[in-house]
Amino acid sequence: MATTHKEISGNLLTQISQIHETVQNEVAKAYIGPPALVQSLMTALVARGHVLIEGVPGVAKTTLVKAFAATLGCQYKRVQFTPDLLPSDITGTTILDMRTNTFELREGPAFTNILLGDEINRAPAKTQSALLEAMQEGQVTIEGEARTLEKPFMVLATQNPIEHEGTYPLPDAQVDRFLIKVQMHYPSAEDERRMLGTYNETLAPISAVMSPEDVLRLQDLADQVHVAEEIFDYILALSHFSRDHRQVYLGASPRAALALLKACKALALINARDYVLPDDVKELAPMIFGHRIILTPDAELEGVQTRGVVSEALERVAYKQVRRH
Ligand SMILES: Nc1ncnc2c1ncn2[C@@H]1O[C@H](COP(=O)(O)OP(=O)(O)OP(=O)(O)O)[C@@H](O)[C@H]1O
Ligand SMILES: [Mg+2]
Repeated sequence: MATTHKEISGNLLTQISQIHETVQNEVAKAYIGPPALVQSLMTALVARGHVLIEGVPGVAKTTLVKAFAATLGCQYKRVQFTPDLLPSDITGTTILDMRTNTFELREGPAFTNILLGDEINRAPAKTQSALLEAMQEGQVTIEGEARTLEKPFMVLATQNPIEHEGTYPLPDAQVDRFLIKVQMHYPSAEDERRMLGTYNETLAPISAVMSPEDVLRLQDLADQVHVAEEIFDYILALSHFSRDHRQVYLGASPRAALALLKACKALALINARDYVLPDDVKELAPMIFGHRIILTPDAELEGVQTRGVVSEALERVAYKQVRRH
């Protein structure tokens, strides 16, 4: 049984889930909406991943990300993506210091812990690539010289759905730099009413409940979360289902399966468990496989959704407790 592999003390696990709860409460001071969304951000953070947030204008994407960053006690910067944004506006540039006649580096906003890339699909591919490279490598290249970024480093990028005019959709091959993609929908009637009722009240200040060191520690602890053989089988069976699906052109890759595994460990940890449950896999699969599956052109024309394929996989693939040999 998974629990016999216990490596993280019960005390520590309780503390971690309390931190998670406090983050939820702090974010709720500014953002009124489902706690599941904040849980996804925490999961990605602990799994050393990045998040792509998609939603129409005005559903509080920026509000959510700002509140989340504030709770982490980490350095935070924001870049508004525009059609004229240059790669060096993200990475930085060297400038000539006239007094000493030497070149000095002026660091761009990528040199931070939490980077909000707002409306990432409003900048052209070259600028998006600079950000995606930073996310992938944890470093940026400024005029030929590689520079390491801070740790932790997390990108939270927002985008409006691609059918909106004047946008540059992220290339399929690059969307998978984001560990998790979440959709933000319109609020429930009740939440929207609460939002209207409180809009002119001064917001209670959001407290930092963590430090960068705490984040790094959580990330290391997540590595120790136990994964049973059955969970490996389950993740593999789900990804194979997506590859064999007749409406799928490109299914979940081995990298996607690994992404799901890492995220499951992080989700388990922030919920006070040192072992992964099949429910972790079920909860995360849509936000991890959804943006990594490419449909056949026919299926796309028919309006099939990649998340539908993931739902089908979750319905059809059974979690098998006993391992077959
Ligand atoms: N669920 C919500 N909770 C709290 N405030 C909200 C909520 N929804 C909308 N608002 C308010 O609506 C306004 C717009 O929010 P915000 O700027 O975060 O949206 P956005 O999704 O980033 O929009 P855009 O796509 O235009 O950048 C803010 O004043 C915010 O406080
Ligand atoms: Mg915004």
